[in-house]
Amino acid sequence: MCGIVGAASSRNIVPVLVQGLQRLEYRGYDSCGVAVHAGGLTRTRTTSRVADLLTQVHDDQVEGLTGIAHTRWATHGAPVVHNAHPHFSYGPGEGPDSTKPPRVALVHNGIIENHEALRASLQARGYVFSSQTDTEVIAHLIDSHYDGDLFEAVKASVKQLHGAYAIAAICRDEPHRVIGARAGSPLILGVGADGTENFLASDAMALAGVTDQIVYLEEGDVVDLQPGKYWIVDRAHKPVARTVRTVQAHSGAAELGPYRHYMQKEIFEQPRAIGDTLEGVQGIVPELFDGVGQDGATGASAHRVFKAIDKVLILACGTSYYSGCAAKYWLEGIAKIPTQVEIASEYRYRDSVPDPKTLVVTITQSGETADTLAALKHARSLGMEHTLTICNVATSAMVRECKLAYITRAGVEIGVASTKAFTTQLAGLFLLTLALAQAKGRLSDADEARYLKEMRHLPVALQSVLALEPQLISWSEDFARKENALFLGRGLHYPIALEGALKLKEVTYIHAEAYAAGELKHGPLALVTSEMPVVAVAPNDALLEKLKSNLQEVRARGGVLYVLADRDTQIDSSEGIHVIRMPEHYGALSPLLHVVPLQLLAYHTACARGTDVDKPRNLAKSVTVE
Ligand code: AGP
Repeated sequence: MCGIVGAASSRNIVPVLVQGLQRLEYRGYDSCGVAVHAGGLTRTRTTSRVADLLTQVHDDQVEGLTGIAHTRWATHGAPVVHNAHPHFSYGPGEGPDSTKPPRVALVHNGIIENHEALRASLQARGYVFSSQTDTEVIAHLIDSHYDGDLFEAVKASVKQLHGAYAIAAICRDEPHRVIGARAGSPLILGVGADGTENFLASDAMALAGVTDQIVYLEEGDVVDLQPGKYWIVDRAHKPVARTVRTVQAHSGAAELGPYRHYMQKEIFEQPRAIGDTLEGVQGIVPELFDGVGQDGATGASAHRVFKAIDKVLILACGTSYYSGCAAKYWLEGIAKIPTQVEIASEYRYRDSVPDPKTLVVTITQSGETADTLAALKHARSLGMEHTLTICNVATSAMVRECKLAYITRAGVEIGVASTKAFTTQLAGLFLLTLALAQAKGRLSDADEARYLKEMRHLPVALQSVLALEPQLISWSEDFARKENALFLGRGLHYPIALEGALKLKEVTYIHAEAYAAGELKHGPLALVTSEMPVVAVAPNDALLEKLKSNLQEVRARGGVLYVLADRDTQIDSSEGIHVIRMPEHYGALSPLLHVVPLQLLAYHTACARGTDVDKPRNLAKSVTVE
């Protein structure tokens, strides 16, 4: 989603700003732009890729010591140049056509909920709007408060904003200053190495190779950046010192290696990612989930919390929600702990019955998903203080907000369609299940040893599943010609069917739906024809015979089946039934393996259809607005 980079320096900062945007491209965007102070304010905007912005600023010889840059993912107003950021304010009665130069330039990530009221009042005062965005309102608002001090103008403006924002602003009359502010959307401060420059960005990755000295701005902070110094005030506008952390961010951008796309690379990285995630796990100990600093130096104690809780509430979105759905089967089946899984954007607004003895588990790859963060805050506001996150970014807002944390080690995931983040989440959730079972006295030593052995086998097992790729390529040739697909699973593999359908939708734009196979005859069977491929996840578990009956129902209606069957499952390829045999039966850990062929199917179908695999239309990697 939108990305921000800003800099106040003593050197030409345009290359750093645009490279920063390139590192934020993975978040998803549909336009981009940069504004610098070069005597006055000047800007370049495009609905094309950041690479084209780079060419444009190079051709136009755009240079400046102070600047802001942005990738926009459209919310208010279409993805056209006049809606792209940075937005200018020329002052009341003036607009782009006037001879007066712009006074304020601004970039924004988030959504301003009271933008209509603010727009009306600013228009009444003579401000001329040239976009449909909520962002332009903030530029004019800052201008309306400007009286020679941009910091003061931003502080006065943010008091009037309702909603979520991370902003960066520069001013014609103060050439060496960038002002930033955040509430509800992420923004970090990068402290330059030699005391001659400072930076703002949406995340540390944007500043990889520029600085590793990072300050995570907190809710309500406003920051004043100048080349050799910075100054932060908190939400009450009182001066505040924030910790500078050393953060090793990797851009990951140069590491495509032999792969065609990041999605393919990330699918094939899963044995490594799972191996890294499990590294150092010698036994099931609650300390695996201890906090990372929230409650003092060593964080909160998982041991105490796991003993205290008697329920689990999982909050997440998208793929992360599906990993939570799979974990429910483990948590109730193995740890015998009642578990509720909620879509974060629903939970945050519905009336629910809170229980303080609940462990609230958020699952998020990015750690910045606005709905999941808001759902967590909502749970806390209801008195549920035991919070744990399964997250892939140790420095993210979510890790800072939760008392306990399990950091998956998927590594940076660039492809918008989540793959290795999903399987590492499942690994973390399985460990959590075992840790809770142990805390409740429901895990014998023998079971602990057996489960750990099975987990350690996962990297090897994943390699053998990845070797099925040629067969998935063959399936993808059929799918590439279809416009609809149905995915079926039962029990623990129903969430895997859901995830398989989501992957196919995201990267191929084929309409795909997933059902618990037992639901077929309650409605979706009406959709089945020879034109509707039906994918079935069919491990050799207790529900296999039931699933086989469901598959017969499909065949009897002329539906063509694509079955992922375990090696020892008696389902064979025949007329209208295509079977790929999984190399082994994986027991409780089967979801981590069965999802991989579905990822490969989506990936190769997308390649066959020629879609933008890593940056599917309309989607963003980091969903930082509601
Ligand atoms: C996954 O393929 C999706 N791009 C999306 O559903 C994602 O999982 C969701 O937006 C949640 O993101 P998070 O894990 O960063 O919170």
